[in-house]
Amino acid sequence: MLADLLIVNIGELATTVGYSERPQRGSELGQLAVYHDAFLAVKAGNVLALGPMSEAKQYQGATTQVIDATGQAVLPGFVDPHTHLVFAGWREHELAMKLAGKPYLEILAAGYGILSTVRATREASVTELAALAKRTLDRMLLHGTTTVEAKSGYGLTTESELRQLQAAKIAAAAHPVNVVSTFLGAHAIPPEYKQAPEAFVDLIIEEMLPAVAAEDLAVFCDVFCEEGVFSVEQSRRILLAAKQHGFKLKLHADELVSLGGAQLAAELGATSADHLLYASLEGIKAMAAAGVVAVLLPGTSFTLRSPQRPNVAAMLEAGVPIALATDFNPGTCPTESMQIVQTLAWQSLGLTPAQALAASTINSAHAIGVADRAGSLEAGKAADFVIYDAPNLDFVAYHFGVNLAQHVFKQGRQVVRDGNLCY
Ligand code: NIG
Ligand code: FE
Repeated sequence: MLADLLIVNIGELATTVGYSERPQRGSELGQLAVYHDAFLAVKAGNVLALGPMSEAKQYQGATTQVIDATGQAVLPGFVDPHTHLVFAGWREHELAMKLAGKPYLEILAAGYGILSTVRATREASVTELAALAKRTLDRMLLHGTTTVEAKSGYGLTTESELRQLQAAKIAAAAHPVNVVSTFLGAHAIPPEYKQAPEAFVDLIIEEMLPAVAAEDLAVFCDVFCEEGVFSVEQSRRILLAAKQHGFKLKLHADELVSLGGAQLAAELGATSADHLLYASLEGIKAMAAAGVVAVLLPGTSFTLRSPQRPNVAAMLEAGVPIALATDFNPGTCPTESMQIVQTLAWQSLGLTPAQALAASTINSAHAIGVADRAGSLEAGKAADFVIYDAPNLDFVAYHFGVNLAQHVFKQGRQVVRDGNLCY
C-alpha cells in the first residue's frame, strides 16, 4: 500500500509498541522501539508503517508527500491527561503572597487562589471562555501536545460549570487537539456555601451531575480530595453518584497532605489518581491491585516550591502505571508545555527520558481512556506526531525552557509548520 505522507531519513524515531491494551508498569516503563535512519508512513490519517529507511521505498508513490527529517527526532504527540483548560483569571498577582510564605491552602481559605479564578470565570461568557481555551490549545499544540484532558471546576454553580464544559466542547470542535472532558464541580467550596459545605456536595450530586450527564458534556468526574476542601467521605459520595451516571472517575489525591485519596481511588475503581505527593505505601499498593494509573504532575511541585516528591520507586516496585501531565492551571502550574514536564521528570522524579516519554504518551493515553487510538505510533493508530529540532529523544528532555517542536502532525495533517500554526 502507498502512503499519503512519508517522513524519511529520521534521525531518531521512538515510540512504545504493544501497550494499547494496558499501560506499561514497573520495569516495562520506558521500553521503546527506537529506530535510527528511519521512516514513518501515513495513510488516511493513520500510521501505515514505520521502520528502518531500507524498508521505506515500497510506500512511496507518485503522489506521496515526502518530508525529510535528517538529524531530527520524531516522537508521538504528547497526551496531557490532566489540565484545567477552561478558565478566565490568571493569578500572577498572587506570586507576592506565595513569596511571602503564605501556603496554598491558606491562600484558598482566605478567598483567593482557586476562588479568584472562579470570580473571573463566572463573569465570562461561553464565547469568551471558548476563545481563551482555544488560545491555550494552540499553545499546547505548538509544544507538541495532540490530545488533552480538560476539567471544569472554576464555575462552582450548575450554570457556570456547564458553561465551562460547553466552552471546552466549542473550542475543541474547531481545533486539531482532541479534548477529553472532565467534570470537576468539586474543586473548591464556593463562598456562598462556606458555612454549609454538605449542601454544596448535595448540589453537585442532585443537580450538577445529572445536568452534565444529560448534556453529555464530560467523560470523567474528578474531585479535589484534600484537607479543608473535600473530605474522603464527601469525595466518595460524589464519585459513587458520578459512577451511577456512567462517568469514569478521577481524583486529585494526596496532593498536599496524606488523606487517603489513593486508597479511595482504588476502592472506587478510578481510572487515575493524580498528584499523589503524599500517597501512603498502602495507598500505592491498593492502586496497583486495582489498576489505577498514577498521574504525576512535577510542574505543580515546582510552582508550589514543594520539596515533597511522589514515591516513584514504590510505584514502580508495586506495579502502578505512571503517567505524566502538566496540570495546566492558573494557580499551581501555569504552563502548557509537556516538553518542560519531560525535563522536570528527570530533574525532580528521576525518570529517564524514555520513561518520561512512555508516561507522557501511551500511559497518559490510558489515564484518559484513549490508548486504542492515541499515545503511540503503530500501524492503524492515529498519525499524531512531532518532528523536533533535536537529534534525539534525550535532547528534548535535556535542552529545556525553549520550544523544540518544529512540525506537528495531527491525524496525518500538518498543523504546525516551522514552529507556527498552519491548521
Ligand atoms: O491540580 N489542586 C487543585 N486544583 C489544581 C489547582 C487549581 C488552581 O490553583 O487554580 C491543581 O493543583
Ligand atoms: Fe489539577
